Amino acid sequence: MDIKFNHVSYYYNANTPLQTVGFKDLDFTIKEHSFTSIIGQTGSGKSTLIQHLNGLLIPSQGEINIAGFKIVPQTKRKSLSKLRSQVGIVFQFPENQLYESTVLKDIAVGPLNFGVPLAKAQKQALATLKLVGLDSDLAQRSPTELSGGQMRRVAIAGILVMKPKILVLDEPTAGLDPYAHEEMMELFWHLHQKWHLTTIMVSHSMDDVAQYSDQVIWLDQGRLIQMASPREIFTNNQQLQMKPQSVAFYQELQAKGLQLLQTPLTIAELVTELKKKILGTTIE
Ligand SMILES: Nc1ncnc2c1ncn2[C@@H]1O[C@H](COP(=O)(O)OP(=O)(O)OP(=O)(O)O)[C@@H](O)[C@H]1O
Ligand SMILES: [Mg+2]
Repeated sequence: MDIKFNHVSYYYNANTPLQTVGFKDLDFTIKEHSFTSIIGQTGSGKSTLIQHLNGLLIPSQGEINIAGFKIVPQTKRKSLSKLRSQVGIVFQFPENQLYESTVLKDIAVGPLNFGVPLAKAQKQALATLKLVGLDSDLAQRSPTELSGGQMRRVAIAGILVMKPKILVLDEPTAGLDPYAHEEMMELFWHLHQKWHLTTIMVSHSMDDVAQYSDQVIWLDQGRLIQMASPREIFTNNQQLQMKPQSVAFYQELQAKGLQLLQTPLTIAELVTELKKKILGTTIE
């Protein structure tokens, strides 16, 4: 089922002197099973938007349709608890929210809250621990004894154990070294395909945005600037400050008069396009 935002606005501290705009008049559709990235400068409304996807925030105006739920300003948060089992949100630095005495207990919190019996919840937790690439030996350890990268995987397992249909990631690789970053993105990409997820990712890494997304939502100061494929976004907005490395390099080449057939979104594409160009020129 697609996700629809129908002229949705959100104001923090609504109807008080401290009222501020979270975002304004967002109107778009996210296709089921697509990988959508949300980009925009700090304070543009990205985190505010994703908190609307499982009813943590309720819109001030407009209507959201998600996973069979209709959310309007009158909707009560309590009525959305089932939605939370279908929409998994991995917040920034999720490892900061591990508080149980063992890794297994931490991962099992979600299923237990939804009434799954203990033995089954533990079994699910163990399977999910392996799914995120961690050894089952870690199950009985305290989360505080793990490395930062391992802790993040445990926190992510705590979301995945619910088998969400929609997975929402708020800068999931923030603070990771390049190797861990790539591994983490590969894990999400693998799950996206294997579980036929609808994935929504907030990211400041334009390389990831270009590599993985079907579509990009570009926000600025709470407004939707554009929703389009990464190629459209990165081809037609020369002024966009954030861009993939391959696009930045291509723009340097363009300034020197070199045109490729299409804007390369990844280094691999850049190499392919350059080969075509160079071989083509040789043949001429
Ligand atoms: N709890 C809050 N109370 C009041 N205003 C808030 C609150 N949280 C965010 N805002 C405001 O709402 C707007 C959007 O903030 P939001 O956190 O959604 O931005 P963001 O795009 O996620 O930024 P970043 O890239 O820094 O994470 C900003 O103007 C921000 O100051
Ligand atoms: Mg944010």
